[in-house]
Amino acid sequence: MIGLTGKGDRFAASLKQRRIELARLIEYPVVLWSGNANGRNFPANKLPFRASSHFLYFAGMPVINAAIRLDAGKLELFMDDPPPEATLWHGTTPSREEIGKAVGAEATYPLAELARTTEAATVAVQDLATYQRQREILNRTVGLSDERDLQLAKALVQLRSRHDELALAELRQSAAVSVKAHRAGMRATKGSHTEAEIRGAMEGVIIAHNMQCAYNSIVTVHGEVLHNESYSNQLQPQDLLLADVGAETQNGWAADITRTWAVSGKFSSTQRDLYEVVLAAHDRCIAEIHPGVEYRYLHLLAAETIAEGLVELGILQGKPQDLVAMDAHALFFPHGVGHLLGLDVHDMEDLGDLAGYEADRSRSDRFGLGYLRLDRPLQSGMLVTIEPGFYQVPAILNDLDFRSKYRDVVNWERLAQFADVRGIRIEDDVLVTDTGAEVLTAELPTEIAEIEELVANNLSS
Ligand code: GLY
Ligand code: MN
Ligand code: MN
Repeated sequence: MIGLTGKGDRFAASLKQRRIELARLIEYPVVLWSGNANGRNFPANKLPFRASSHFLYFAGMPVINAAIRLDAGKLELFMDDPPPEATLWHGTTPSREEIGKAVGAEATYPLAELARTTEAATVAVQDLATYQRQREILNRTVGLSDERDLQLAKALVQLRSRHDELALAELRQSAAVSVKAHRAGMRATKGSHTEAEIRGAMEGVIIAHNMQCAYNSIVTVHGEVLHNESYSNQLQPQDLLLADVGAETQNGWAADITRTWAVSGKFSSTQRDLYEVVLAAHDRCIAEIHPGVEYRYLHLLAAETIAEGLVELGILQGKPQDLVAMDAHALFFPHGVGHLLGLDVHDMEDLGDLAGYEADRSRSDRFGLGYLRLDRPLQSGMLVTIEPGFYQVPAILNDLDFRSKYRDVVNWERLAQFADVRGIRIEDDVLVTDTGAEVLTAELPTEIAEIEELVANNLSS
C-alpha cells in the first residue's frame, strides 16, 4: 500500500516543478500510465508491482493502475477508488482524492474518464494489458517511431538525467540501505555455507527498511557469469564472492553496488593482485569525474588501467595503450565501466540508447566498446556507476578466434596461475557535482584491509 506520510507541500512543489519543466520541452499533452499488478494463479495473488518509472517521476509514488495527464504544467490523475468490499482484505487505502492532493493534481477522475486522444505523447509501459490500453486510448501504435513519443522521450531524458533535490534525497536513502546490506553480507559470510544464505542476509536488510531490490541480486562465487542470478552454489574457503546488490526506495529510486570479498575472510596473493588492479581502475575513474568529462574517456581510462595492471602482473604483454586499441583489455573486462542510475538501474534504458548516447553518437561495434552504455559528457546532477571488473569468462578465453587474435599479447601460462579469480567487480554510485563528484556509496569500504576486517571479524559497522 502506498503511504502518504511525509508527502507535504515540498513534495507536491517539486513534482510541480518537474511538470513545468516538461511543459517547456514538449508541445503535446502527455499521458503516462503506472501499469497494473499482475496476478499469479488468481487475480488477488499478485506478483510484485513496480510502477513505470516515467509515471513515478511525475506522480512521485507507485499508484497501481493509474494514469496522469500532464498539460502545460497541470496534472490530472485518473484512477479508481477501491470498491468498499476491498477494505475487508486490504484495509483502508488512500483515496483518489487523497493521492490527488498529495501529488498536487488539479483534478482527479475515475480511470474510465481518460478520454481517447490522438494528440497525446506517451511511453510504452512494460505490462502488456496496460500497453494494450495505451494503444486503445491513443488510437495508434506507441513507441519512438511516433514523433510525439520521440519528443517526449527526449524531454524525459533531459529531465531525468540530472537529479533534483527530491530525487537526490531518495537516492541517498537507497544508497545508505544498500551499503548496510553489503555490510550484512560481509558479516554473514563466516557463518554461511551457500550463496543463498548471504543473499538472504543482504536482501533481509533491504526488506527490513521497507525497500525492495532495484534489480535481481547477483551473489555468487561465479562472478565471471556477469548477471548470475542463481544462488545455489556452496561457498568454498578459497572462493571470492561477488555481490551486486542494490535497494530501491518505495518510490522507485535505485542504488547499485558491487563488492567482492574472500569467503575465508582473507584474499590469496593472486586474488589480492587482481583486486588491486580493478580497484586502481575504479579509483582513477572516480578521481576524474567532474562536469564536462566524457564518460567514454572514463571507460577507456579503466580499460587502460586494467591493461597496465595486467602487464605488470605478466598476464598481458605490450603497451597498455596499444592493448586497449586492440581491445585486449576486453578479454578480461568485457563490459562498459557503468551507466546512468536513477529511477532504474541502467536508467532509462527502456528508451534504448536515447538516454545513454549523445544525439550524434551510436554504439561502437568494437569488442572493447560495444557494451558501453553511456557516451556523453557528464553534467552536474547526473548519477553514474563506476564498475570496472576482471573476469575469466570461459566463453571468451576459450574462443578460438580470440585465442588466435590475442596469441601474442596474452601469457596463458601466467594467467593459469590466477585460477582462483573467476570474477571481481567493484561498483559505486557517483553523483556529478558542480565542481567534481560525490560517491553516494562511499561508506562501504573498497580497500582489501577494511573488507577483510569486516568479513573476518564479523564487525557490525
Ligand atoms: N547491477 C547491474 C549492473 O551493475 O549493471
Ligand atoms: Mn551497475
Ligand atoms: Mn551492479
